[in-house]
Amino acid sequence: MTGTEPSTSVDGVPTETAGWSSMTTHVTSADAVPTTPTLDPGTEHGYSGELSAVLIPAATLQAKIAELAAAVAADHDLDTPPLLICVLKGAVMFVTDFARALPIPSELEFMAVSSYGSATSSSGVVRILKDLDRDITGRRVIIVEDIIDSGLTLSWLLKNLATRSPAAIDIVALLRKPEAVKVEVDVRYVGFDIPTDFVVGYGLDYNERYRDLPFVGLLGEHMYR
Ligand code: PRP
Repeated sequence: MTGTEPSTSVDGVPTETAGWSSMTTHVTSADAVPTTPTLDPGTEHGYSGELSAVLIPAATLQAKIAELAAAVAADHDLDTPPLLICVLKGAVMFVTDFARALPIPSELEFMAVSSYGSATSSSGVVRILKDLDRDITGRRVIIVEDIIDSGLTLSWLLKNLATRSPAAIDIVALLRKPEAVKVEVDVRYVGFDIPTDFVVGYGLDYNERYRDLPFVGLLGEHMYR
């Protein structure tokens, strides 16, 4: 993939093609730094002994967010600010850091969706729990997602938002699990490709826990088996 391919369209709305592969850092299980009883970054957040490893440290996340923000700003050519759509709840940490890293003004909207399926995999059937508060006609919309797993949520959301006549829709995803993807979605800005391990932290939860960690870690198997 390259970053210079022409735009494709989702239901008539221009979107950017997948690209920017040079921006995406590939993280493997070998990059995970195991926790030990004496070195466990979960401890200072009250999660002592619950994580097996740190996969992406906080400083690495923040450096990548600055890079993503610079790229999004460089591509912005409309007079109106981009409208960041945060998909609750997982993306909330990411969108706040991302908006603050953007060197241009932006506006914020929130959407909450729920996909039918098991606790660990979505079905692609999505229900809106909280919709946008305003019209997005003519706006450059940027969907801000914490993670693309199967891609089903994003695929549905893209189609839904495309019916509302935005000028363009881009997607910024901090994490993607390429081996889990069931539906390919054109995502212009991806921070990290990660393995299919059970990741938590920086917005990602297990039973609503661990969202508050400032890094992405691997959950110890003893916590969910
Ligand atoms: C997570 C994540 C994405 C979605 C990705 O949300 O925030 O929205 O799953 O999965 P997919 O690519 O397989 O569709 P989740 O439904 O866990 O809700 P949450 O953000 O409130 O934790």
